[in-house]
Amino acid sequence: MPDKKTFYITTPIYYPSGNMHIGHTYTTVAADTMTRFKKMLGYDAYFLTGTDEHGQKIEQKAAEAGVTPKEFVDKIVGETKELWKLMNIEYSDFIRTTDERHEKIVQKIFRRFYEQGDIYKSEYEGMYCTPCESFWTPSQLVEKDGVKVCPDCGRPCQPMREEAYFFRMSKYQDWLIDYIETHPDFIQPPSRANEMLNNFLRPGLQDLCVSRTSFKWGIPVDFDPDHVIYVWIDALSNYITALGYLSDDPSLFEKYWPADIHLVGKEIVRFHTIYWPIMLHALGLPLPKQVFGHGWLLFGNDKMAKSKGNVVYPAPIVERYGVDTLRYYLMREMPFGADGNYTNEALLTRMNADLVNDLGNLVSRTVAMIEKYFGGVVPEPGEEEPSDRSLRERFEALPAAVEAQMDALQFSVALSEIWKLIGDCNRYIDITQPWVLCRSEETMPRLRTVMYYLAECIRAVAVHIGPTMPSTPDRIFAQLGVTDPELKTWASVQKFGGLKPGTKVQKGAALFPRVDVRKELEALGGGAAKAEKKPEAKPEKKAAKKAEAPAEGIASFDDFLKIKLVTAKVVACERVANSEKLLKETLDIGGGQTRTVCSGIAKHYKPEDLVGKTVVLVANFAPRKMAGQVSEGMLLCAEDPDGSLRLLTVDGEVAPGSEIG
Ligand code: MSP
Repeated sequence: MPDKKTFYITTPIYYPSGNMHIGHTYTTVAADTMTRFKKMLGYDAYFLTGTDEHGQKIEQKAAEAGVTPKEFVDKIVGETKELWKLMNIEYSDFIRTTDERHEKIVQKIFRRFYEQGDIYKSEYEGMYCTPCESFWTPSQLVEKDGVKVCPDCGRPCQPMREEAYFFRMSKYQDWLIDYIETHPDFIQPPSRANEMLNNFLRPGLQDLCVSRTSFKWGIPVDFDPDHVIYVWIDALSNYITALGYLSDDPSLFEKYWPADIHLVGKEIVRFHTIYWPIMLHALGLPLPKQVFGHGWLLFGNDKMAKSKGNVVYPAPIVERYGVDTLRYYLMREMPFGADGNYTNEALLTRMNADLVNDLGNLVSRTVAMIEKYFGGVVPEPGEEEPSDRSLRERFEALPAAVEAQMDALQFSVALSEIWKLIGDCNRYIDITQPWVLCRSEETMPRLRTVMYYLAECIRAVAVHIGPTMPSTPDRIFAQLGVTDPELKTWASVQKFGGLKPGTKVQKGAALFPRVDVRKELEALGGGAAKAEKKPEAKPEKKAAKKAEAPAEGIASFDDFLKIKLVTAKVVACERVANSEKLLKETLDIGGGQTRTVCSGIAKHYKPEDLVGKTVVLVANFAPRKMAGQVSEGMLLCAEDPDGSLRLLTVDGEVAPGSEIG
């Protein structure tokens, strides 16, 4: 048996100066998703994350809190590990820079650099940014309101002078320029490579200050203990110390180094593509295959920072909507590499549209139809017709499309590929109209094929979403009755037809809860909800408003605005079992979205009369259960004097989803 191919991915090691927020979660979920994906493809994948615990800032924070630095970081590291558990993160190892295994090896690395002449002792004079723990040359500072500030965080820097060790970065500059130019995949996205070459390397590299004497919370230089090893040599080495480099047991290092991907936020690409390659080259080690600098998750178009009070934490979101909803949102919403704004509203809208409407409805409708038409048993498919063929072709093209996007770390495009299959399935239901096929013996073979194709496609969807949404596939498999582990694998979705006819489906709870976005925004408070809430009216204004309030039975303008009316096209309609009054309509509400609504008009219309009609939907009517069905809105009707109900219809030239008002 040949050895499995290995894959090694890392996140930055985060500063435990405060709790991790949704920005740190973003990188970690991306690394976890990638690891799970590679494992699914049969790789021996190793995923490292951890914490970067030394430095002046932590020392200061601990002093403010009245605890030792170690006590301070222990608490936050504990909470970080809890958060990763909550987020379903399965790291292979969690390295702390205060681990003995790390500290000892960093000392060895430092000594080796010194002994081979890469590090020398001198005196440092420069501008220092405490929050970023970075020294800057005067030319690197940027001007803000007449003050020279740190180019990374925009805060003021202080002049600083002290005895220090330096790394001779300049010695390796030409080699690195050549390396970057001849390895176009090394820095991704490519624009970041140009930035490094043009802004830092070509203008000339400064030697890097790599020790400090002004604080103690760091790894001492073993041959000169007044100095502690200054942050980047300490931090960057984690990627190899965690694998046992220079330790008694270097087996992991031998197996996994060089890393396949260092995932980092764009602000630390510089350290990972300049200092780190030079350090590795000086150690005679190969470079990581790729450093990917992703964009920032912004809040209110600004980078999240505790000091700015615009930080979003994941736990409340996970508690309300489930971990997979948040993981899906993070991986789906913005292209990896670009910045994007986090809003609760976008999260909730995506949840309702992609997870509840598209995926959740598809699963529940299909399972319900197999129960209704075939007693819950997946039927044997019959002859393939053109509509079945296109669905099968989408199924069969999906793995390669997803793999290509995942290899490029384009998580959101990979997900949209999966959602194309989901969308095709929903359209396939609308086109094939199972509720019509079920009416005659002659069309029953067709119905069998349709149900089989849907169930098989849902199985493929469940497999493909697993890396991003690890707790959802099993819930889908349970409803589909898939128990054979083989049918949950990547290999099993390379070819259509794995699902066995005769499998017993089982209706389960809705995969995702539909939410009322407005109500949820209010309930979430803070964050986006707070930013969007209208300011409270002043007491006097409130009183005036009360006086203006309309009499009972009269709707105010505000009342009217609460009702959202939209046009919707009936794409399917059927009777609701066990109800004489109800028809269930599937409505196209524009933008590729559908809604299911029940109306008490079965005595006045045959289901087939309604298909194709454009009707008026109260779109923000709270969902309610009617005869066991969830109705997501209400259709406007007029009552004739003889008591018969007539649906209000609109000229078909009006597109579905048009607002009425
Ligand atoms: N300790 C250093 C990294 C050393 S790696 C050898 C550090 N720590 S950090 O706590 O500031 O984490 C920065 C990283 O967290 C970013 O590079 C990114 O991966 C992630 N993010 C933190 N905030 C983020 C956003 N608002 N948006 C996206 N990612 C963010 O730098």
